[in-house]
Amino acid sequence: MNVKPNIEPMKPYTPGKRAPGGIKLSSNENPLGPSPVAVDALRTAAESMHIYPDQLGEPLLHSLSDTLDLDPSRLIIGNGSDELMVLACAAYLDRGENSISARHTFSQYEYATRLFAAEYRPVPMQNYRFDADAILSATGAETRIVWLCNPNNPTGTAMPPAEIDRILRSLDPATLVILDEAYHDYLDDDELRLDTRRLVDRYPNLLALRTFSKVYGLAALRIGYGFGSAEVIEGMRRVKQPFNANGAAIAAAHAALGDRGHYERSLEVNRTGKRRLYERFAALDVEYLETQANFVTIRLPSDATPFAAQMLDEGVAVRPLASFGLPEWVRVTVGTHEQLDRFFEVFEPALERARRRRVPGGGGT
Ligand SMILES: Cc1ncc(COP(=O)(O)O)c(C=O)c1O
Repeated sequence: MNVKPNIEPMKPYTPGKRAPGGIKLSSNENPLGPSPVAVDALRTAAESMHIYPDQLGEPLLHSLSDTLDLDPSRLIIGNGSDELMVLACAAYLDRGENSISARHTFSQYEYATRLFAAEYRPVPMQNYRFDADAILSATGAETRIVWLCNPNNPTGTAMPPAEIDRILRSLDPATLVILDEAYHDYLDDDELRLDTRRLVDRYPNLLALRTFSKVYGLAALRIGYGFGSAEVIEGMRRVKQPFNANGAAIAAAHAALGDRGHYERSLEVNRTGKRRLYERFAALDVEYLETQANFVTIRLPSDATPFAAQMLDEGVAVRPLASFGLPEWVRVTVGTHEQLDRFFEVFEPALERARRRRVPGGGGT
C-alpha cells in the first residue's frame, strides 16, 4: 500500500525514552507528578465514563475563560496541544502553501504541515533563539502559518516580547501566527515575559497554544487549549472531532487549574533544580543553554545518541537531540533533588568516558 506523496518523507514521532525502573528526564514531564486534587477528580469522573463528554470541554472551558478573562468563543480545548496544531493546519493550510518555523524546534509543526501537503520551511536561528529577521525574510505570498515556540523546545530560549510583536506587526494579517506556549509557566526572566492575553486582542491572526502536560502534570491524559480571536477558533471548531477531548482529562484539568499550591511547588522545584544543573554543568565545563523552560540543553564532546543510550542502560533517560538537528546535544528535564543526584551519578562517569574517547591517545575504549 503506497502512502500519499506528502506522507512519503514522514517518519513516526520519536518519543523520549523511558528506563524501566529508572528515572525519566527525557520528555519534560512534571517530576512531582499530578496534583492530588486532579487525581481525585479523575476518580470521580470515572463514575460517569458512560456519558459523552461536553463537546467544547465544559467545565474546563469556563474556568479557562474566567482565568484568562476571555469569551469562551475565543477558546478551544484539544486532545493535547498537538491536536490543536493539526486542527489549525486542517482549517488554514492547504497544498501549495507553506508554514515557517525555526531549524531546531518542536517536530509537530513539520508533521502538521506535511499532513496537509503543504511545505515546511525551517529557518536558521540566532544563538539558538528564534530569529525574527530570518522568519520575516522567509515569508512569501504562499505563507499561511508561522510557528513560534516560546520558550523553545529543545533550546529553552525565549524571544524578547518586542521581537514577537515585530513579527506580528510585519506579517500579512492573513498569515496565522501560532505561538506555542507549552513551557510559558516556567519563564522566569522578567524581560522575556510576554503578555499573550493582551497580544491576542491586538492581533486577530494570533493563536496561542498551552498544555496541561507540563507544569500541571497531566501528560498521559492528553489535554491542552488554544486561544485567539473568535474567528480563528471558529475555523478550528469546524474541523475538530465532536468529542476531541475526553471527559476524564477535562475533569482532571479543571481540578488541576484550581490547585495553585501544586503549581507553585512545581515551579519552585524547577527553579532550584535548574540552578543546580547550571552550577554542576559549569563546574564540569559542560556547555549549557540558559533555559526558560523545565529542561536544560547541553553539548557533549561527541555524538549524543550513543551517550544517551548508555545512560539509559544505567537507568537514566535523557533526550538526545539528533532528531532536532543537534546531534551533539542532549536535553535534560529538570528533576527532583533525588532524581538529579542519580542523574549526576550516571552522567559524570559517562562524560569522563566520552572525553577520553575524544582525546587522541587518551586511553579510552
Ligand atoms: C513545544 C511543545 N509544544 C507542545 C507539546 C505537546 O503538548 P501536548 O502534550 O499538550 O500535546 C510539547 C511536548 O513536549 C512541546 O514540547
